[in-house]
Amino acid sequence: MARILVTGGTGYIGSHTVVELMQQGYDVLIVDNLSNSNIEVLDGIEQIVGKRPDFCRMDCLDYPGMDRLLSQYSDIRGVIHFAASKAVGESVEKPLLYYRNNIGSLVNLLELMRAHAINNIVFSSSCTVYGQPSAEHLPVDETAPIQKALSPYGNTKQINEEIIQDEAHADKSLHAIILRYFNPVGAHPSALIGELPNGVPNNLMPFVTQTAAGLRQKLRVFGDDYNTPDGSCIRDYIYVVDLAKAHVKAVERMLAETAEEQVEIFNLGTGRGLSVLEILRTFIRVTGVDIPYEIVGRREGDIEQVWAEPHKANTVLGWKADTPVEDVLRSAWNWEKHLRGIK
Ligand code: UD1
Repeated sequence: MARILVTGGTGYIGSHTVVELMQQGYDVLIVDNLSNSNIEVLDGIEQIVGKRPDFCRMDCLDYPGMDRLLSQYSDIRGVIHFAASKAVGESVEKPLLYYRNNIGSLVNLLELMRAHAINNIVFSSSCTVYGQPSAEHLPVDETAPIQKALSPYGNTKQINEEIIQDEAHADKSLHAIILRYFNPVGAHPSALIGELPNGVPNNLMPFVTQTAAGLRQKLRVFGDDYNTPDGSCIRDYIYVVDLAKAHVKAVERMLAETAEEQVEIFNLGTGRGLSVLEILRTFIRVTGVDIPYEIVGRREGDIEQVWAEPHKANTVLGWKADTPVEDVLRSAWNWEKHLRGIK
């Protein structure tokens, strides 16, 4: 079976994707600098799959190191590039760090792929590229216009997509699949891997589960005066295991050489928008754990509402996110309980 290089493979989405790839028989090499993940994730993967993935602690910015590694692993047929910094607020504080990390890594990888005759890359992008879509573009499909990014983080995703397009134009042997994720949540059903945020979580789901576990006093709901049915923001929350499976489909498609275009773009979402308050209420209902919360002011830079039109991924990739949200929220809670040793 082919080997896939997974950069950022000990991270949240990366680790779930490694599990799905290995369960489908792929050999995996993880490259991760562990800047926002933990080496013990490898134990979780091994426990689930029954086999340990190859791992190298390395920064994708280390060009000579990556060059040596790719010479050593001459069986790599494709790359899934997750490794990136992803905190929106931090990117506003430290834009150059974000430009260096997120753009330098991709440029290095593409150069090295050319040098080592690796022609397939799957790239982790984000629905953030759409900004706030206008009403006629909701749900948002892949043809919706890209809007000016609201943060350096978002801008790195846009620039990286352009870099891939330009390189594919210059090198006709390169094939790329760009996956625009909506809001990934939940954890593996085994509760052996999941999201591991550093410090106080920025994202909704880990904040909810940490509040449920008693680590945080209460959840702050950022705004109830939006133009939505209950006034809170709407997102498309997608189960991380469903998301991981989309990466396997993307890899299969590239290796089978059935892609219609050199660069293909897919929205990965459920097609269903849920509000912050709906998520909160559903979490309380399915777990039986109360979450104290208060409504506070809007968070700067938040989009009011966005959810996916996943038709293209459903039909062309042959993939669908179909795990019920109740199961997804339960999985997030089981993972938090596992982390904190709660029975
Ligand atoms: C954000 C980024 C997205 C990035 C993702 C990953 C924007 C517009 N989006 O998604 O590009 O890929 O993070 O890190 O910057 N909320 C609360 N209380 C909280 C936390 C969140 O009410 O304590 C609300 C937010 O206002 C939002 C929703 O929950 O309406 C989801 O927030 P979050 O999980 O941070 O994701 P996004 O902001 O959608």
